[in-house]
Amino acid sequence: MLVKNYSNVARIYSHLMRSIDYKMWATYILKLSRIIKKKNISVLELACGSGEVAGYLRKKFIDYTLCDLSLQMLLSFDHQFANKINCDITALPFKQKFDFVFSTFDSVNYLLTKAAFIKMLNSVESCLEQNGIFTFDVSLVENSLRNLKHLNRKGEFRGIKYQQISSFNRVKQIHQNKFVITCEDGSAVTENHRQRVFSFEDYFDMISKTKFYVYGCYEAFSFSNASPKCERAQFVLKKRN
Ligand SMILES: C[S@@+](CC[C@H](N)C(=O)[O-])C[C@H]1O[C@@H](n2cnc3c(N)ncnc32)[C@H](O)[C@@H]1O
Repeated sequence: MLVKNYSNVARIYSHLMRSIDYKMWATYILKLSRIIKKKNISVLELACGSGEVAGYLRKKFIDYTLCDLSLQMLLSFDHQFANKINCDITALPFKQKFDFVFSTFDSVNYLLTKAAFIKMLNSVESCLEQNGIFTFDVSLVENSLRNLKHLNRKGEFRGIKYQQISSFNRVKQIHQNKFVITCEDGSAVTENHRQRVFSFEDYFDMISKTKFYVYGCYEAFSFSNASPKCERAQFVLKKRN
């Protein structure tokens, strides 16, 4: 049975991501937030997943709101967050304006069309302060090509068996991860995760169609300029005046 993305993967997500250094990732996000020369900034994390980054940042940001499309992902952690909102990043429901909006781990690659990506940028723009910053990372072609073999795997976590089948269609720019999950009672469900791997240049083109400009575009986890050959690029956007 085909089910909604992250409805069941939520149960094994921490296991799938066990080799990811979220502390380092959170430290990088914190450094990016310091581009805003202001104390006590208000923060919105898009597509926060199971709150792995938030676990490290919650004490750094007092006014911190998290959101994700998957209710199961939001329910999979506590961290005593008052502000966990179940919503789509292309239609953010916030009236409040934030100083700093960010997203991690190629969440924005889930937006499959240019129209959806631009809709997300416009949605963020409408809830970002004039001098605020929006930063997100994108997974590029090189990441799909180099890491495909690690993403074809099988395992078991807390009585749940899973198989991940990963493929990349370079022509269609689609990276697909199919998860077959067999629950404790033997029932099996499938989630079909499709992510769009736009070219490096496409991102600049899409951003130019909005009220944002690219303040910086770095090779992820650094402050060196990114290139089309990077596996992951970190965009830092500001609003045009
Ligand atoms: C690869 S996970 C990353 C989660 C988290 N940011 C992390 O670093 O572990 C992608 C997340 O994006 C969320 N997501 C995908 N499309 C979304 C959308 N349109 N609106 C909000 N969240 C979305 C998924 O539910 C999932 O939690």
